[in-house]
Amino acid sequence: LANTEVDISKIAEGQSITVKWRGKPVFVRHRTADEIARAETANGDDLRDPQPDDARVQRPELLVVVGVCTHLGCVPLGQKTGEVRGDYDGWFCPCHGSHYDTSGRIRKGPAPTNLEVPPYTFLSDSVIRIG
Ligand code: FES
Repeated sequence: LANTEVDISKIAEGQSITVKWRGKPVFVRHRTADEIARAETANGDDLRDPQPDDARVQRPELLVVVGVCTHLGCVPLGQKTGEVRGDYDGWFCPCHGSHYDTSGRIRKGPAPTNLEVPPYTFLSDSVIRIG
């Protein structure tokens, strides 16, 4: 499918879902206020792939990223409750130890770039279309 529609109304704060888009996993996370604050605070840090958080989201509470590590393509952990999320509380790639923050930006480990933000559109307050 070229496009994937996602009902975001049922994703509770602090939860993520994984959907498929063009054969790839896409992580859709309803961020907590704390996660948003941490992502925004880190804008001034020494980021490997510098991008402010607000360039990566359309609405602060919703983060949408392709769930494929930019090192060699493993699927990072952190989607399931209780799974390890790395030193920056985003996602952790167990293949070679890349740590991503609450904006999906690479912070530590071998991955060269941030998790990719796919194109998406809000069709309403409760539905986005990826692609
Ligand atoms: Fe993720 Fe290597 S594929 S760290």
